[in-house]
Amino acid sequence: MFQNQLVSYSGIQPSGNLTIGNYLGALKNFASYSEKYKCFYCVVDEHAITVRQNPADLRRRTYETLALYMAAGLDPEKNTLYVQSHVHEHAELAWILNCFTMFGELSRMTQFKDKSARHADNINAGLFTYPALMAADILLYQTDVVPVGVDQKQHVELCRDIAMRMNQLYPDLFTVPEPIIAKSGKKIMSLADPTKKMSKSDENPNAIVYILDDKDTIIRKFKRAVTDSDTVVRYAEGKDGINNLMSIYSCFTGKEFDEIEREFDGKGYGEFKLAVGEACADALAPVQKRYNEILSDKAGLEAQMKKGAEEASYVARRTLSKVQKKLGFVQVR
Ligand code: TRP
Repeated sequence: MFQNQLVSYSGIQPSGNLTIGNYLGALKNFASYSEKYKCFYCVVDEHAITVRQNPADLRRRTYETLALYMAAGLDPEKNTLYVQSHVHEHAELAWILNCFTMFGELSRMTQFKDKSARHADNINAGLFTYPALMAADILLYQTDVVPVGVDQKQHVELCRDIAMRMNQLYPDLFTVPEPIIAKSGKKIMSLADPTKKMSKSDENPNAIVYILDDKDTIIRKFKRAVTDSDTVVRYAEGKDGINNLMSIYSCFTGKEFDEIEREFDGKGYGEFKLAVGEACADALAPVQKRYNEILSDKAGLEAQMKKGAEEASYVARRTLSKVQKKLGFVQVR
């Protein structure tokens, strides 16, 4: 559809604050994709309401998420940046895909199981069929690759299964997408319990470093990071805390593990933790500065949303109408 250019698609929910896990696993790499792919980045507000949202917070975070995309270096001239609910084809295709997605498949999704355990009072049908909406996001743009964190791999695999199933029934309907999992994003663990992934929904604020945390907060959180009773900065089995800090330091500085081990040879954990905190804060500072500038121009962000929605709608409309036609819906236009 884009003169032989491959399509990349990804989305971020405007709920909760994003962590350095989200940054290193996804956002940081996004800017480099626009050289190689036609990229779509969506603020998935319709996904967000599968758990209760305060309307004012949802609205504010939608602006913030778009600003963060741009602050992370995504140029809106080269990438299509938009809000999911501005393109009605997402919800329409999701309905159709729901009719080709099996109850058993959705029941096996680990995110559904986790979220229904955490929100036991609100296990709604949207939470259950969430992966069909995500598949609609991806398939509407005839996507080739989906850069996501490892936690979303299962959803992308389900999306592939749906696409292949429908292609069997209706040949050449969808491009079957591949997930791209960032190497670094796999490894960012909680600072309080380094055997668990760093998650924005963790109850313990010391477990998480947010992209928008200020320098003092970042340094304080790294100082408190749980480590082992050894004293040597070395990557080894059983040293989950140190391994995690080494991964984070490596991601922010580009240094390899053996280089880091040499750098901190004979130095203690305290000094190492401080260095990790400083590297993280220094790397995030320019992102935070751009973010604040972009966010202060609300009219500019709204103009961006409009432009992105127009670009996205153009493509989405074509795919939806192809699907409707192939399924046998009467078209009278
Ligand atoms: N489910 C993703 C998450 O929670 C967000 C998402 C929605 C997404 N639609 C998508 C990611 C399409 C990639 C492609 O992180």
